[in-house]
Amino acid sequence: MTSPTHPPSPTPSGVAPPAAEALFGVELSRAVAYAELLAEHGVERGLIGPREVERLWDRHLLNSVIVGELIPRAARVVDLGSGAGLPGIPLAIARPDLSITLLESMARRVEWLEHVTRTLGLDVTVVRGRAEEPAIKRRVSGADVVVARAVAPLAKLCEWSLPLLRHGGSLVAMKGASAAEEAARDRQAVVRAGGTEPRIASCGVGVLSDPATVVVVDRVDRDSARRTRTRKDR
Ligand SMILES: C[S@@+](CC[C@H](N)C(=O)[O-])C[C@H]1O[C@@H](n2cnc3c(N)ncnc32)[C@H](O)[C@@H]1O
Repeated sequence: MTSPTHPPSPTPSGVAPPAAEALFGVELSRAVAYAELLAEHGVERGLIGPREVERLWDRHLLNSVIVGELIPRAARVVDLGSGAGLPGIPLAIARPDLSITLLESMARRVEWLEHVTRTLGLDVTVVRGRAEEPAIKRRVSGADVVVARAVAPLAKLCEWSLPLLRHGGSLVAMKGASAAEEAARDRQAVVRAGGTEPRIASCGVGVLSDPATVVVVDRVDRDSARRTRTRKDR
């Protein structure tokens, strides 16, 4: 767990588009500081491609923070394969009510995540490991929501993420243009892995010029299914 410190002072926030003010509110200066850290070090650290620097807000920060629309208040959230901190860091900035764990397997990226969260004074947990490792499943379990962007095909993502969720918890997989195709292709594997039928949702309609398309899969709530069966048997 990182300890909160003062965030760096706001930098030319002219770079932040109007939607950022609405979505980050009083935390906008932290979001600007994060965008600046990414712009300054993201390419050399191999976290983002060189062409991404000029579209950091639209394609990365706003596209990430907007999935908060699907996350209930005070939820326990795991960002599986956080990498540069997306979507977990924008969510942590805008939603201090959430309890967020950034899960990442690569040591260099874990160092980056620790550096950024310390610099921004974010109260998040950074964990190094692979989601499918037994020790990680023990440590990072019972989450309400797992979010993931650009990590793995949907079927694999469900294998990795469903064991980290409480029964009834949800995977929110940021898939963009491939959402419908992946949901149809991997439907059976998702159900076999213990998920519900995948459903598609759009986040940021009427707010962002390019809403984020996600696939949502809930971990089947076995307790509730058992209760329903018992009631029917009576
Ligand atoms: C392509 S990057 C995307 C990073 C970030 N989510 C983004 O959208 O910019 C995928 C990240 O997931 C991590 N990763 C891949 N498989 C993983 C696993 N099974 N458990 C934890 N992290 C994983 C990789 O190390 C990498 O940093």
